[in-house]
Amino acid sequence: MKILFATNNAHKLQEVQQILGADYLLVTPHQCGVDEEIPEEQETLEGNALQKARYLFERTGLDCFADDTGLEVAALNGAPGVHSARYATSGHDFAANMRLLLHNLEGVEDRSARFRTVVALILGGQEYLFEGEVRGTIMQEPAGEGGFGYDPVFRPEGYDLSFAEMAPEEKNRISHRGRAVAKLAAFLAEHCK
Ligand code: IMP
Repeated sequence: MKILFATNNAHKLQEVQQILGADYLLVTPHQCGVDEEIPEEQETLEGNALQKARYLFERTGLDCFADDTGLEVAALNGAPGVHSARYATSGHDFAANMRLLLHNLEGVEDRSARFRTVVALILGGQEYLFEGEVRGTIMQEPAGEGGFGYDPVFRPEGYDLSFAEMAPEEKNRISHRGRAVAKLAAFLAEHCK
């Protein structure tokens, strides 16, 4: 089955394709003639995931899904949350975002946090939402070279390593996005036999 995924990010595409398996062929907005930036202007992860999926569905009429992720830090009242990509600057400056996060947590004892991903699926014109989360803590300083975003400062519960120090397969197995996409995969397997 072919399904349109709202990303042109090759890393994310590969990660999600790996989780969904060979029964599904992911196609990108670019491959469907959608080259403009897909809007995500909402104040919640659910709102953004739905906005992106609806945008693609309106333009292509194809079954499609979109995801949105945020890092929610308890001591910062859930920040950076839906603003995770643009926490420090208007761009996706991962290093600046991490620096600001560590700065805002200086001297703070409760460093608990979670990553949360929401996937919005439009299948046969119907909308469905799936959520995945992973709990952990924000480390005192970055460690590891792998992954992206806040991976070097996030240590998942039950591990002594940051996400950036883990093998990609291991991160995918327990991650927010991995869990949300696994729910999507189970749903598609049930509904698209
Ligand atoms: P997006 O919704 O997947 O584009 O994620 C928004 C932002 O959250 C990204 O720009 C990253 O800063 C952060 N983020 C999302 N997923 C991860 C992850 O798996 N590890 C670390 N940071 C992430």
